[in-house]
Parts: sequence; C-alpha cells; structure tokens
Amino acid sequence: MSSEIKQSEPLAAIPRHVAIVMDGNGRWAKKRNMPRLYGHRKGVEAVRTTIEAAAKVGIKNLSFFAFSSENWKRPQEEVEGLMKLFLSSLKLEIPKLKKNNIRVKFIGDLERFSQQLQESIKSSEEMTRNCSLLTVNFCVNYGGRWDIIQAAQKLVGQNLDEEAFDKAMALAESGNVDLFIRTSGEQRISNFMLWQIAYSELYFTPVLWPDFGEKDFIDALNWYATRERRFGKTSEQLESAKS
Ligand code: IPE
Ligand code: IPE
Ligand code: MG
Repeated sequence: MSSEIKQSEPLAAIPRHVAIVMDGNGRWAKKRNMPRLYGHRKGVEAVRTTIEAAAKVGIKNLSFFAFSSENWKRPQEEVEGLMKLFLSSLKLEIPKLKKNNIRVKFIGDLERFSQQLQESIKSSEEMTRNCSLLTVNFCVNYGGRWDIIQAAQKLVGQNLDEEAFDKAMALAESGNVDLFIRTSGEQRISNFMLWQIAYSELYFTPVLWPDFGEKDFIDALNWYATRERRFGKTSEQLESAKS
C-alpha cells in the first residue's frame, strides 16, 4: 500500500459497510497449474488493493471473509498454509495499515487458532485501535450462525428485540451491510453474515479473487449507487420524501 492515500472522485452513494466473500483463489491457481496456496498468496494482494481503494473513496467499514468456520474441513496442508499466510501477512501489513490510519479487527471464534496467531491478532488490534479512517474486519473462523448464537448467549435473560441483537452481534460496530460482494461467480452466502445482510444489495462477479482489482471494486460501487434502496417502502414514497 502506498504511504499516502489520496481521495478520488466522489461516488453518487457510498456504502457505509461493504462485506466481501473473496472466493476463487483455488480455481485461479488451478488454471495456472499451481498449488492452491499460490492462489491464496495472490489473494492477499487483492485484499491490499481493495483496502486502499475503499479508503480512497471514503468507505468507513470493510469486512472480508478470510476463513469460514467450515474451512477447517479443507486438506490439512491447505489449512496450515493459510494459517502461516495469515501470520506472515499480519507482520508485513499491520505497520502499513497503522501508518494509513486504518483500524483492523478480527471477528470470529478466535480460540481455535494457535497461541502465536492469537497473540499476533491481539497485537494487531491493539496497534491500530485508535486509527479512524477506515475499519477493516477480517472474519476468521467466522460463521453467520455462530454470530447469531453468540449474540443470543450474551442476551440470555434480557429483552430480545432487534436493537438488542444488533448490539450483541460480533460485528456490531460496523452495523448492517449495505453492499455484499462475492467473487468467482458463486451466488451463495456460505454462512457469511446472516443477520447483517437482511437489506444488503447483493453483487456477484465472475472475477476470481486474485484478479479483483481497483476497477472491479469501483464497478461494484457504481452498481451500488444505481440501486434504489426501498426498505419496504414504494418508489413513489421515496421520491416524495426527496422533494
Ligand atoms: C477463497 O478461495 C479463499 C478461502 C476460502 C480461504 P477458495 O480457496 O475457496 O477458492 P476456490 O473456490 O476453490 O476457487
Ligand atoms: C467462503 O468460501 C469462505 C471464504 C471466502 C473464506 P468457500 O469457497 O469456502 O465457500 P463454499 O464452500 O464454496 O460455499
Ligand atoms: Mg471457494
């Protein structure tokens, strides 16, 4: 990431919270007769580019699905390689993110990770705690159902309404997702955020994650800006509220 982030052209509507299922690393590598981990390593570059682009346009919350609660089922070699990649990427990227005033948070059930990774996660969060340009959530060992259950566990014995749930979700600070992006042509949620996507605009692109660049991100944002978000109301009601 460049050390200075410059503002770019304003978009018609900027989502407050963008969530991305970065999918297609394995297929990207396979097309090149390379091991799946090569695709994951390339995927880190796309994460960097997307964070930089999000900061430039003024997005305040960006969430990446980096490792699902179901991804433990993958071959051991791939899981171990991903853990090593998380650790090395953290070491390399966190100082740059801090310099760019970007806060990093890790969302998920972190206890299953090695002590070393948990410590690295904790220190990354602490190092960037006061950064305020953009918050990046890395969802690791995360599942939308896990999030709902952990919220319900926190609320046992309390008043169960939507507001209480909003506050108890692991991603409470970033709020509801405005724009949900999934790469690689798959059109499913795969247990990413469930509660928070109730009214998201859903954007699916065939681009494989390692190929996802700034232009692809801006295309998604421009598409988002054309959506009419009605939240149950009619188009006419929205029009008359504008005038
Ligand atoms: C997404 O890419 C990254 C992770 C799940 C960690 P995949 O590894 O799922 O890539 P494909 O879907 O096999 O191409
Ligand atoms: C979802 O992708 C998880 C991440 C991107 C981390 P998967 O590739 O694991 O999803 P499925 O299993 O194909 O639905
Ligand atoms: Mg996949």
